[in-house]
Amino acid sequence: MKTQLLSQTQISQASELLLQGEIVGLPTETVYGLGANGLNPSAVENIFTAKGRPQDNPLILHLGETSWLSRYCIDIPDVAWELAEHFWPGPLTMILKRNPVVPDIVTAGLDTVGVRCPDHRLCRDVILQTDRPVAAPSGNTSGKPSPTTSKAMLEDMDGKIPAILEGGACRVGVESTIIDLTSSPVCVLRYGGITMEQLERVLGTTLKQETKAENAPKAPGMKYRHYAPRASMTVVVGEGSQSADYIQKHLKQGEGVLCFTEYKPLFSGFETCDIGKENDFTQQGKRVFEALRAFDKSEVNHIWAQCPPERELGVAVANRLQKAASFQVVTL
Ligand code: TXA
Ligand code: MG
Repeated sequence: MKTQLLSQTQISQASELLLQGEIVGLPTETVYGLGANGLNPSAVENIFTAKGRPQDNPLILHLGETSWLSRYCIDIPDVAWELAEHFWPGPLTMILKRNPVVPDIVTAGLDTVGVRCPDHRLCRDVILQTDRPVAAPSGNTSGKPSPTTSKAMLEDMDGKIPAILEGGACRVGVESTIIDLTSSPVCVLRYGGITMEQLERVLGTTLKQETKAENAPKAPGMKYRHYAPRASMTVVVGEGSQSADYIQKHLKQGEGVLCFTEYKPLFSGFETCDIGKENDFTQQGKRVFEALRAFDKSEVNHIWAQCPPERELGVAVANRLQKAASFQVVTL
């Protein structure tokens, strides 16, 4: 099977394929997803095969609009509607009690379901035209960095799925934030495109930092190796000039550097990938997965990475880098 790249005028084709039980690559504002009709168990099963994903790892159900919440969830607390009003369409996934119409294969048998309404016009048009929720994980092969362009998705999925809808480079670039609204107090299971600061402003409470996903792998997917480039990797946590200095001292021939724009000139002669200026977390979010993928195309045998501080979107970027490095981290 050759994977077809659909243009933005081919929304009906994408929707047709979904209704026929096929899987389709869909752009979202976070990363590209591997979508199937979320009400068709055998279609959803194909996702796990294409991705090589363990079946105990549940999928997010993507909704066409906020009102669909009550189609697929039950016992919806007021706070869910409030969060949806503030952040949907957008990069926030809410874990809620599932309505039994949602097949077991989507939720890996859990009595909860993750739902979000994506902020990408083409994606939502496809979902609305299909009039079905779309179950979709990130469109990478299990364990690899998530794809933020159709080209990156094609690298992993060519020949495995019939089509990918071209939707340009993803605006956010890291996955959605996942908040569990079925636990008390509510907790964040994955840092992502909506920051802790944004959530706290709406919730009116502080979200505890102990809810860090790596310490509490309540989202089943968090226990698996993730985002990993071929080369081994060390993340250096600290102020930019200090981490650059540390990396310069330790860097050996044949190794590469993932750095902030300001420090790139320090590493001339080495394979480098800059993810944006030190304080530009938005740019870093957009570029982090592409950078990790770029190193896979080079010969480097080790990657040294500078790391943004744990605030705002920096938290999500730092988390992706540290997971990619299997938590091999030096703190200065
Ligand atoms: O931005 C995103 O969220 C992207 C785009 C495509 O929407 N999707 C995405 O899906 O990142 P995936 O499957 O790569 O990651 C979903 C995470 C997994 O770690 C999974 O274990 C967790 O969400 N998850 C899904 N349903 C859950 C549930 N009911 N309870 C706890 N965790 C859940
Ligand atoms: Mg993923």
